Amino acid sequence: MQDIILRVEDLQAQFDTTDGVVKAVNHVSFDVPRGTTLAITGESGSGKSSVALAIMGLLPYPGRVTGGKIYFRDRDLLTLKGEELRKIRGREIAIVFQDPSTGLNPVLSIGDQVEEVIRTHQRVSRREAKAMSIDVLGQLGLPDPEEIVRRYPFQLSGGMAQRVMIAIATALNPSVLILDEPTSALDVTVQAAILEDMARLQERHGTSIILISHDLGVVAQMADNVAVMYAGHLAEYADAATLFRSPRHPYTASLLASRPRPDQESRGRLAVIEGAPPSLVDLPDECAFLPRCHKATSECRTEPTPSLLPVGPAAHVAACYNPMYRADEGSAARRSA
Ligand SMILES: Nc1ncnc2c1ncn2[C@@H]1O[C@H](COP(=O)(O)OP(=O)(O)OP(=O)(O)O)[C@@H](O)[C@H]1O
Ligand SMILES: [Mg+2]
Repeated sequence: MQDIILRVEDLQAQFDTTDGVVKAVNHVSFDVPRGTTLAITGESGSGKSSVALAIMGLLPYPGRVTGGKIYFRDRDLLTLKGEELRKIRGREIAIVFQDPSTGLNPVLSIGDQVEEVIRTHQRVSRREAKAMSIDVLGQLGLPDPEEIVRRYPFQLSGGMAQRVMIAIATALNPSVLILDEPTSALDVTVQAAILEDMARLQERHGTSIILISHDLGVVAQMADNVAVMYAGHLAEYADAATLFRSPRHPYTASLLASRPRPDQESRGRLAVIEGAPPSLVDLPDECAFLPRCHKATSECRTEPTPSLLPVGPAAHVAACYNPMYRADEGSAARRSA
């Protein structure tokens, strides 16, 4: 049995706006085994950050969780309160936010910010906290950490600031680290270095990582398992090798097909799939992917978005009535599903 550190079950979350109810997270379920990386990918607005923020209890107003369970080990975070909850969120589960400008306080030195996190959660002296800060910054590949702790955020490059935020999130050696688009604003070399740091950190401490990224190159490099989100739903889930080799949901297949490749002229251009996702205020009665799907059957037009169905060996599942099988997979693959 794998040691499941985080289990999200049938999670639902919404934003009650003046324009209507935005159904940002719709019946999402997944497990994160200890020491593994789950990548969550999908187009902008598909609900990736909302899942992360719901786990952290940080959905901004007017957002709220309306159903489901979020287990950390065997405790459902949605039923815990006060001190018990604080001990887990922030300490056992930490997040690096998507928006870097929200991450660091401009008027505090880097050292003060890392130390503050450590001293909020651990009974250590100032001096010990300082030594720990320098240590954690050094572990993340920041050169000359003794000097960096004296700097202010504006004195850091984008890559350094991102590493400091990761240092703050990892200072307490969390069991689960959520990284929301941790490298999308950085150039390719810095991105690669940060991803290597993450892999090393995971190796050393057995950290479980939830990596949110729309960059399928990053996903392929880092993920053990991949969850593809579409319109607030999980469209497909599989181990990374299986997902990249045998995507079953037409949406996943389109994402993979439209992925920019270094050897093609499309290099640098964003992946585009024809059409647009539905409004999350007015989710359709039929499958949410229908208007963009080239494989739709009559069932897809009359039934709501299906729940996750087995489409292959192991835990490969897709929310699709008519999943894709390659010609060379034949009926054996269908039978095993
Ligand atoms: N504060 C908010 N108020 C109202 N609606 C919101 C708010 N934050 C997010 N939403 C809506 O919730 C849905 C999911 O947004 P979310 O930010 O989770 O998507 P995402 O997959 O992280 O997108 P991106 O790739 O752009 O970061 C979107 O329709 C978005 O407009
Ligand atoms: Mg986001």
